[in-house]
Amino acid sequence: MNSLAQELNEILADTCAIRLFSEAGRRIYFPKGILSQSAEAKQKAHRYNATIGMAYQDGSPLILDAIKEQLPSLQAEEAVAYAPTSGVAQFRDCWQQELFKKNPSLNGAALSLPVVVPGLTAGISFLADMFVNMYDAVVVPDMFWPNYRLILEERKHATMSHYPFFNSKGGFNLEGFEKTVRASARQNGKALVILNFPNNPTGYTPTVAEGQAIASILESVASEGFDILVIADDAYFGLQYEDMSLHESIFALLANKHERILAAKVDGSTKEDFVWGFRGGFVTFGCKGMDRKHYEALEKKLMGIIRSSISSSPSPTQYILLKAIEHPSYHEQKEQFKQLLLKRYQTVKRFLEKHPCPSVLKTLPFNSGYFMCFECNGINAEILRLHLLNTYGIGTISIQEKWLRVAFSSVNEEHIEDLYAHIFKAAEECK
Ligand SMILES: Cc1ncc(COP(=O)(O)O)c(C=O)c1O
Repeated sequence: MNSLAQELNEILADTCAIRLFSEAGRRIYFPKGILSQSAEAKQKAHRYNATIGMAYQDGSPLILDAIKEQLPSLQAEEAVAYAPTSGVAQFRDCWQQELFKKNPSLNGAALSLPVVVPGLTAGISFLADMFVNMYDAVVVPDMFWPNYRLILEERKHATMSHYPFFNSKGGFNLEGFEKTVRASARQNGKALVILNFPNNPTGYTPTVAEGQAIASILESVASEGFDILVIADDAYFGLQYEDMSLHESIFALLANKHERILAAKVDGSTKEDFVWGFRGGFVTFGCKGMDRKHYEALEKKLMGIIRSSISSSPSPTQYILLKAIEHPSYHEQKEQFKQLLLKRYQTVKRFLEKHPCPSVLKTLPFNSGYFMCFECNGINAEILRLHLLNTYGIGTISIQEKWLRVAFSSVNEEHIEDLYAHIFKAAEECK
């Protein structure tokens, strides 16, 4: 094993991270190679900096006018130079400050600095590289973002242990969650868990009490002597529409909960800032008892994973987002978009209250995010999807032939009633 990997592992020797690492996680390190020599030169090379593979003229990177014209508010350095592997330092600081503001329960807890990744998918995939071995089981509800399957099963050769997302009362299935996490921990000696709220595809966010119960369940499994990695996939963070929902990330309830619980928050601008194609995301770690040196070691491990796959995230994305977050009306503009989505959500709710569902459809609980789902009983969700598409020109998503996911986020408010009227009509016709 490389001595740098050994050094990082020694720093983490007394933490659950070392026991939770995959083989790759144990082996990975951030080399003191080109990038760190170049960073050193950036500080000290006052005469000539002949370190890095970029083309400079008079201290600035060369930039084509054709590019510069597209990005008038960015300096050449911000537009075309490589960003550091862990991300632009000011952007990371700024996101961390926002994170504390958005999650008061963190209450100044010691956390890693957010490490920049090119979107949440990359964040989850990198964490899988760091922590998931072949044949490991990852606890995921039965209703989940299908890309987890590709990441965990196909890329990592891992498996998923499912529990039904909802209980019979239409709340988060705490009992099923507890049973599955505990069984997985006992079988594998550790538990790997993904939590995604607001959830895709259900559009459900747990209540505050359910959120606290999730944290207590994980604490109790950890207290039995099992290490737990919890990935909080916060893609739709901030889009809670009801007061009773947990408005903070579940990460905030776990980041300082137990020495055996390593919480990893995957979040970013994709949906929070309405920039889906920018590919701006973050991974932040939190674990009770870890201090700066532990977090730096974890950041370095993740940087090794990044360096060995995508090397670094795009610079223009990071600088544009940094400037946007610092813009005086950033929060106000975001609130306006949230209100737009809230109105669509309320229109869906109103429609469903006024119109009884066809017998073959059941509306599943939803209170947040972009989506809601119907459960299909006696008809096949894929057949319903195709009927909606081919007969009425309406696109929806069928999941496991059982659920029909409707993204009300992407339909104008004035079209929502018509959309749902057509879904009901099409479901009757599929009987
Ligand atoms: C639950 C969930 N996680 C992660 C992502 C991926 O986000 P990104 O586009 O930033 O990779 C999505 C996108 O649809 C999602 O629904």
